[in-house]
Amino acid sequence: MNVFKMKKILFNDFKREYLRFKTVIDRGINRVMRSGWFILGKELGHLETNLAKLLKVKYCVGVGNGTDAITLALLALEIGFGDEVITSNVTAYPTITGIERSGAKPVVVDIDEDSGLIDPVKIEAAITTRTKALVPVHLYGQACEMDKIIAIAKRHKLKIIEDCAQSITSTYKNQPTGSFGDAGTLSFYPTKNLGAYGDAGAVVTNDRAIYKKVLQLRNYGQTVRYHHKYSGLNSRLDEIQAAVLNAKLKHLSGNIRQRRKIASRYNQELKIKHIPQLKNNHHTYHLYVIKSSHRENLMKYLEARGILSLIHYPIPINKQQAFRYQKNQIFPATEKFTREIVSLPIYPELTSAEVQYIINTVNRFMQEKNPTANHNSHFPDDSDNIALSEKIK
Ligand SMILES: Cc1ncc(COP(=O)(O)O)c(C=O)c1O
Repeated sequence: MNVFKMKKILFNDFKREYLRFKTVIDRGINRVMRSGWFILGKELGHLETNLAKLLKVKYCVGVGNGTDAITLALLALEIGFGDEVITSNVTAYPTITGIERSGAKPVVVDIDEDSGLIDPVKIEAAITTRTKALVPVHLYGQACEMDKIIAIAKRHKLKIIEDCAQSITSTYKNQPTGSFGDAGTLSFYPTKNLGAYGDAGAVVTNDRAIYKKVLQLRNYGQTVRYHHKYSGLNSRLDEIQAAVLNAKLKHLSGNIRQRRKIASRYNQELKIKHIPQLKNNHHTYHLYVIKSSHRENLMKYLEARGILSLIHYPIPINKQQAFRYQKNQIFPATEKFTREIVSLPIYPELTSAEVQYIINTVNRFMQEKNPTANHNSHFPDDSDNIALSEKIK
């Protein structure tokens, strides 16, 4: 069996996912098409009600995407020009975009070197008289230390907007992320644990005033039809995406259970450092992140054997060209962390044989340490490849 005939293990496999849920998804999309109602309708209402219930908050507003959700939450809290908002130096860049679109200045702080999450100790040092809010990012599916973050916010009278793009239904001390702060923001970008088949997001809150305002701000700042009280956005979650999300929401807890099962096998069997599962945390494993000082070699080794890996994120915020601030500041934990991290495939549709193959391949790399072998040459004696290629058809 030639290894080149082996199918790739993709980092995400949306076709497989769609085929699993095709019947319910197609039914949902058809329902919308037949209804003739595409924006702000029943599907979205249904989704908002069920998400609020699931995340144990009073209100949920569907919006265009997770980036807008951050902007809208800040605007609803009247945070903007002249204000500073503190977040993590290791996050997806849209966290920063979301803050900047409100008019506020993003300020980044260093992370905890083990978990990659914002370091509460560093937050306090970054607070100035202009600081108005904190945006903790529950990265990879693991919650930040909310006790400490809430205590800091109280001490300095700051608002909290939790970026839950990667942490839907993750909990900290048994409480869902998104329900701690003044507001929480979600992304339903297709890769997320609950992913649409396009862009979508949401703001969740327990505060009725924030809820009301986000409802208006997402719809051109309109209070009553053609009456515009605020300068808002056009950022609505459309009915087709809502129908897709309604269909998939029913399978979210099963999917997360499967992610955790795979993570548990990785935790037990991989002979490589990985991000620890934190105390008080229910990790939903949006991403499974390992660490290697031979990262580039490891990624090439995996790719040559049909396994696609990614880095979340290779460039910290302060080093991004678009980020105009804190250019000369040094972030030691960020530096080390972003040099070593690699994300392995983790999604419910991975077969048991594929998970085993990933484990064996990473472990083989570790055994060979820093292999200098030609990564493009095939592996004629690789029995795992053979078993796997026979299983994935
Ligand atoms: C941590 C984080 N924040 C914000 C976002 C932005 O979400 P979206 O892509 O839906 O705008 C993402 C997703 O890319 C994310 O991972």
